[in-house]
Amino acid sequence: MNTTLEVLLNRKSIRVYSDQPVTLEEKETILQAAMRAPTAGNMMLYSIIEVEDQALKDRLAITCDHQPFIAKAPYVLLFLADYQRWFDYYLAAGVEKACREREVQLRCPEEGDLLLACNDTLIAAQTAVIAAESMGIGSCYIGDILEQYEVHRDLFNLPQYVLPVTLVCFGYPTPEQAARKMPPRFGKEFIIHQNTYRRLDASELEKMMQPRSDQITAAGTRKDGIENAGQFNYFKKFNAEFSIEMSRSVRAMMKSWSQKEL
Ligand SMILES: Cc1cc2nc3c(=O)[nH]c(=O)nc-3n(C[C@H](O)[C@H](O)[C@H](O)COP(=O)(O)O)c2cc1C
Repeated sequence: MNTTLEVLLNRKSIRVYSDQPVTLEEKETILQAAMRAPTAGNMMLYSIIEVEDQALKDRLAITCDHQPFIAKAPYVLLFLADYQRWFDYYLAAGVEKACREREVQLRCPEEGDLLLACNDTLIAAQTAVIAAESMGIGSCYIGDILEQYEVHRDLFNLPQYVLPVTLVCFGYPTPEQAARKMPPRFGKEFIIHQNTYRRLDASELEKMMQPRSDQITAAGTRKDGIENAGQFNYFKKFNAEFSIEMSRSVRAMMKSWSQKEL
């Protein structure tokens, strides 16, 4: 197996970090790799904020659904979908006047532009993750950055067409974390399709979830009455307070993005 595949197939999320700092050179390599990621139309529809201020990290550890390890991460990057840079440039380049002359309406960034920018942003983030991993530096995504939009917007001074997409914590793993087993994935038969989508029936879904359901039942009868992995995921994640806040926050982001005011 080549070394790239070894890195890809052995990666796991790291949430506990050793005291070994991430050096300036390593940070620069991670950022350079991220910026070499494929990007729609070579537009780089993202910005990356290096969160180096401890007070900011402490705040994110609270606002991102109370995850204290964020405050302890040696290197934290905030990945933002960014259409502001291009739209500001369009305006600076005189497109408003050019639109008037052509008697066409000025088009502002819309939903499709947002999704494209999100794609760019996540591809850059994952490239950073793999670059770090190749140097022995572990990482963990923080999806909860999608919560509390208004707080994060004010904290990082984000204009209308810049939205937080993901936060990534980086750091060398402790020996215990380095030795920890990788979490299993669903079998290939449930995930990979041939030529057309095939919806799974209840028995296939049960088979897919069997190892996770076994873990729940092995722990004995639960006080909360949860019987299987489906109910566990539904109540503890999908219908949990943080998911409801995430949806509220993303609705606020979409509303702000779609407001047509210059
Ligand atoms: C979009 C996204 C959001 C995530 N958010 C969090 C998070 O907020 N907190 C956390 O501890 N892990 C988070 N993770 C890490 C996942 O929990 C982890 O990738 C998953 O459990 C599989 O484990 P592995 O990465 O070790 O294979 C996130 C991962 C992704 C891709």
